Amino acid sequence: MSFRWLPALLWLSAGLLLITALVDLPPAWREALIAAVVGFILLALYFVRRFCTRFSDLQERANELSEQVETLTLELTRQQRRRLALIDGIPIPLLICDEHAMLRHANRLALEWFGFRHMTGKSLLALTFCYDLFLLMLKAARRESAVSGEITFSFPKERHTEAYIWYLGEADSHKLFAIALIDKSELLRLEQVRRDFVANVSHEFRTPLASIRSLAETLHDDPQMPAETRQRFLNLIVQEADRLARIADDLLTLTRAESMQPVREVFELAPVIQQAVQEMESEARRAQVSISAELEPNLRLFANRDQILQVALNLLSNAIRYNKPQGSVSVRVYREGNHAVLEVADTGIGIPSEALPRIFERFYRVDKTRSRETGGTGLGLAIVKHIVEAHGGRVEVESEYRVGSVFRVRLPLHATEPSEPQSL
Ligand SMILES: Nc1ncnc2c1ncn2[C@@H]1O[C@H](COP(=O)(O)OP(=O)(O)OP(=O)(O)O)[C@@H](O)[C@H]1O
Ligand SMILES: [Mg+2]
Repeated sequence: MSFRWLPALLWLSAGLLLITALVDLPPAWREALIAAVVGFILLALYFVRRFCTRFSDLQERANELSEQVETLTLELTRQQRRRLALIDGIPIPLLICDEHAMLRHANRLALEWFGFRHMTGKSLLALTFCYDLFLLMLKAARRESAVSGEITFSFPKERHTEAYIWYLGEADSHKLFAIALIDKSELLRLEQVRRDFVANVSHEFRTPLASIRSLAETLHDDPQMPAETRQRFLNLIVQEADRLARIADDLLTLTRAESMQPVREVFELAPVIQQAVQEMESEARRAQVSISAELEPNLRLFANRDQILQVALNLLSNAIRYNKPQGSVSVRVYREGNHAVLEVADTGIGIPSEALPRIFERFYRVDKTRSRETGGTGLGLAIVKHIVEAHGGRVEVESEYRVGSVFRVRLPLHATEPSEPQSL
């Protein structure tokens, strides 16, 4: 029996009581009616009790359910946050769009790429200004499958990418797609650098080889050639062969500086620079250039001694080679904070400002003819830069055309060197 009967029982009891009170009944009937009323009331009380117990059970269950709902909501929020954190942390730009190419979410890197704070709710085309990506997105939406393609962005800067788009599923009655953009600009740049390098190397080898060949042919074709001319031609052949050997040596040094971790030791910088100055003295005398040196002692490096010597030799050789007769070169070694600085200044021909950013490139020479005449391969400064950077240092140049140049190399001092007193 259910609670539906409770009002009926109460009404019945009340009716019977009323009859007992109002109608003159024989005592036996009256007693029977009263007993029935008591019975009904007891039954009603029993139902009330059952109702109360059931109600408190239901309340408990409702509380449990609401707790469960709360936990589930919390877990859902956490999961959503984790998903967003995952998308945000991915080190490639990621966009989430619907089937109409409207943006639903963009990760941190995508925002950085396109220079926006918020991107959601707008059209992919309006945000990226890239029609090709927009078309690719619509193609993915039509097919509801993964598509990819090469996409070039010109906003906010030029980027060559491979775009991958795939279908994620439905949410809020919209089809969602993810777009990942893989930046290939650096790869393409490196590929170009590699192609240029191969072209440059072939060119640099071809020039002396062509001279050797034509000189040898002339010698071969003209057996009556005067001995003096013959000797001059032979000397030129030797010079060109030396040049080829120098290019090969420099390329090897450069490759080693780039690819191998240098074997390091702790040594003092001044004696190494002194040695470089001594080695270059005869060349300086020949070029009528004077060298002065001011070398601060006790500056110790943890570096590859031979490579640091090579850096000093390359800078000194340039300072002498691109100098004027009666010119001078001054070499200084001093401390600046936690770095040792090697400075090579000359009173030479200087470097035109438009050439300055390029002089550390391989095979770059401001004046090809002059450099070739003096035996330059255009690799000396590239070697300097690689060695210095492999040691955690920096190289910089200041130059005034026709007045002179100053090259400064900053190298970190050995960690145990006492630090310079800090001014208060
Ligand atoms: N001190 C300098 N004064 C003027 N020009 C310089 C100086 N140092 C370098 N240059 C310019 O920078 C170019 C590149 O120098 P780098 O040392 O790399 O090559 P190089 O001297 O031509 O050949 P090498 O590989 O034999 O050193 C030089 O050809 C020269 O034009
Ligand atoms: Mg040089």
